[in-house]
Amino acid sequence: MTATFSAWSIRRYGAPDRLAPVQRPMPSPGPTEILIRIRASAVTRADGMMRAGQPCFARAFLGLRRPRKDLSGTGLSGEVIAVGAQVRRFAVGDAVFGEAGLNFGANASHICLDEAGVLMHKPAALSHEDAAVMCDGPLTSLNFLQNVAGLAPGERVLILGGSGSLGSAAVQIAAAMGAHVTATCSARNAGLVASLGAESVIDYTTQDPLAAPERYDVIYDTLGVTTFCKARHSLTQRGRYVCPVLSLGLLAAMLRTAAVGQRKARFSATGLLKPEILRPMLAKLIEMSTAGKLEPVIERIYPLDDLIAAHLHMETGHKRGNIVVV
Ligand SMILES: NC(=O)c1ccc[n+]([C@@H]2O[C@H](COP(=O)([O-])OP(=O)(O)OC[C@H]3O[C@@H](n4cnc5c(N)ncnc54)[C@H](OP(=O)(O)O)[C@@H]3O)[C@@H](O)[C@H]2O)c1
Repeated sequence: MTATFSAWSIRRYGAPDRLAPVQRPMPSPGPTEILIRIRASAVTRADGMMRAGQPCFARAFLGLRRPRKDLSGTGLSGEVIAVGAQVRRFAVGDAVFGEAGLNFGANASHICLDEAGVLMHKPAALSHEDAAVMCDGPLTSLNFLQNVAGLAPGERVLILGGSGSLGSAAVQIAAAMGAHVTATCSARNAGLVASLGAESVIDYTTQDPLAAPERYDVIYDTLGVTTFCKARHSLTQRGRYVCPVLSLGLLAAMLRTAAVGQRKARFSATGLLKPEILRPMLAKLIEMSTAGKLEPVIERIYPLDDLIAAHLHMETGHKRGNIVVV
């Protein structure tokens, strides 16, 4: 009998119920590939957008009418169970984590990936669940705070959305970088966000964080809840507004501020950066985690069979930290 693996397929863009469980023939690794038995994988807002084919311009990468690669999921952690003849970085038995990127297929029992991709050895102290979400909130927030905003020790940062996947990582990373952290969240998450390292917590349901007289060197709008124009007066003279949610308004602000003014608006598509750029960033996250400065917040762990329920919860926009399927 041919060996198979379990995965989730998206034949047409749409709601979570478009996800369908499938069995596929077990792949054998090509010369530079490794076959991974997946122990945990992430369910992220980006996965939801890819499933829905939104925003529409993303279909240029994903497939115009239907997903070009039909399997779901990007972030994963597991063990290497077979390697191609030319593989040098990994061996059978290694614990690894990383992301499938535009290959997709991480919400599965097995996956074949090129060893040159965004893959790292998993330290024993890091659980598969924590490792599976490293490429979402932690990697994106390190990219935005360190590379996009150029946050320096002693600077003041306002994190809008401190309790989401990106925000809960950002609070910890900014604090580890020596910044003074203010973050917004609702009252139910205030204790969590303060425990992650925020010196000041603002309840976004009762207070407008941009109405206060405080000025910030960096405003990291993890959810795209405001705009550069509205945030501008809360930035210092050389302040940076950085936002991972692309919109026409953000694009226009980036173009305008690149040409004139000292306050800047910036965006980056972290997942599209080269593996050579992302791997050293993951190494830095491992260092932070080993030093006890970064611990991913995991709100819920679902069995792989319940991927639709995991997507439905992720789509509420109110998850706390991360969601994982195992
Ligand atoms: N450009 C990139 O490289 C990149 C990479 C990854 C993700 N992204 C994007 O980043 C965005 C954020 O993703 P995420 O996973 O961090 O989001 P998320 O985890 O779904 O965010 C949910 C959290 O946001 C809080 N929240 C909701 N409305 C809020 C508001 N107005 N102010 C403050 N907090 C609020 C919720 O708290 P309550 O329940 O208390 O309301 C909840 O804890 C997504 O759009 C995703 O697509 C971009």
